[in-house]
Amino acid sequence: MRERLRKIYRWFDERIALGPVREFAMHKTVPVHRYSVFYYLGGMTLFFFVVQVCTGILLMLYYRPSPNGAFESVEFLMTTVPFGWLLRSIHSWSANLMIFFAFVHMASVFFMKGYRKPRELTWITGALALFLAFAFGFSGYLLPWNQLSFFATRVGTDIAGVVPGVGHWVLRFLRGGDRITGGTLSRFYGWHVAILPALMTFFLGAHLLLVQTLGMSVPPSVEEEAAKRRPMRFFPNFAMRDLFGWTVALGVLASLAAWFPWELGVKANQFAPAPAGIRPEWYFMFMFQTLRLVPGGEIAGVEYEVIPILGFGLAALLLVLVPFLDRGVVRSGRSPLFTAVGAVGVAYIVALTAWGYHSWTPIYVVLGVAALIVLLAWATRRRDSGGEA
Ligand code: HEM
Repeated sequence: MRERLRKIYRWFDERIALGPVREFAMHKTVPVHRYSVFYYLGGMTLFFFVVQVCTGILLMLYYRPSPNGAFESVEFLMTTVPFGWLLRSIHSWSANLMIFFAFVHMASVFFMKGYRKPRELTWITGALALFLAFAFGFSGYLLPWNQLSFFATRVGTDIAGVVPGVGHWVLRFLRGGDRITGGTLSRFYGWHVAILPALMTFFLGAHLLLVQTLGMSVPPSVEEEAAKRRPMRFFPNFAMRDLFGWTVALGVLASLAAWFPWELGVKANQFAPAPAGIRPEWYFMFMFQTLRLVPGGEIAGVEYEVIPILGFGLAALLLVLVPFLDRGVVRSGRSPLFTAVGAVGVAYIVALTAWGYHSWTPIYVVLGVAALIVLLAWATRRRDSGGEA
């Protein structure tokens, strides 16, 4: 068996020169310190993205992007196609988990200062991938063509339309007209299955390539500790741990999908009154809640709600520019003020999300995940300190 595998390897090596890749993989290492556990979060995000691609392709085999076919095709999938309900539930749960882990990964990289020179482009491509993930979520929400998604999309695109100057153009661009129609549905479908996947492949591909070529950074606060400890080999030590995490994630994903199948609701009726409780996906909730708190009225001909909308646009821009705004890079190496601003940002997002749902659950989830990570960090720290090549 071994000999046969070697022969297959040699066959490919003679044709596409696998040698340098093998050499690189054999010598790749990961720093070991008390925060090493955070290095698994990007891989976890990647795992959910791969699940999205696989399940999304299978969903495409049944889905029909038209107002008369969309809801019915999803209903058929959920009720008649063997395991169709599971497929759809996994796709929906995995989308949410991917965005959740992308958030946690981004926060960990932010607090560990992993964006600093020479990783500016790794940060920027990651931030763009996160925005694309939001766009995937927004476009995918409409596809089942049910009441909730129809009216939430109307509200969401209305918000874009409020921006002075370009707003109306953006609204028409998103909807493919002034109203939400079958044209909007085919447009969102095109974004969801063609344009966004192409863009994501490009930015995520660049992100992962940069991660490979630059290796993992060590946070300034644990440089001394990492220098004293032997780094971990990527193959097989780190990769096996990654694989273990993905196996657990698959179990959690399948359990969530089986126990809490994704609802379909009732078919969209554009002439019906908007149902009570219209809400966006949870990751837009903090912005939605902020807008709900803004009183009606205008100042100098500009509606009040334009101010937070522009504020969020500015915050997104600042997020992309994080590597160039952190002045700690040129001063002491640590930047407590910058860290504090990040902490306030995270607290704002979590608090407004909880407020939006009138529920403590978002806070429990964040505290639970933080406790789990601390536990994992503690457990793996003990094992690593035994010394490992
Ligand atoms: C959207 C999906 C994303 C995927 C699949 C992904 C994947 C990865 C992977 C596999 C790594 C290497 C392991 C690790 O550090 O966890 C990584 C590192 C990194 N990611 Fe991401 N990432 C994503 C989003 C983001 C976002 C939103 C940001 C920030 C805005 C970001 C910034 C970074 C940076 C700066 C590193 C290098 C960290 C270091 O060297 O210490 N990534 N990413």
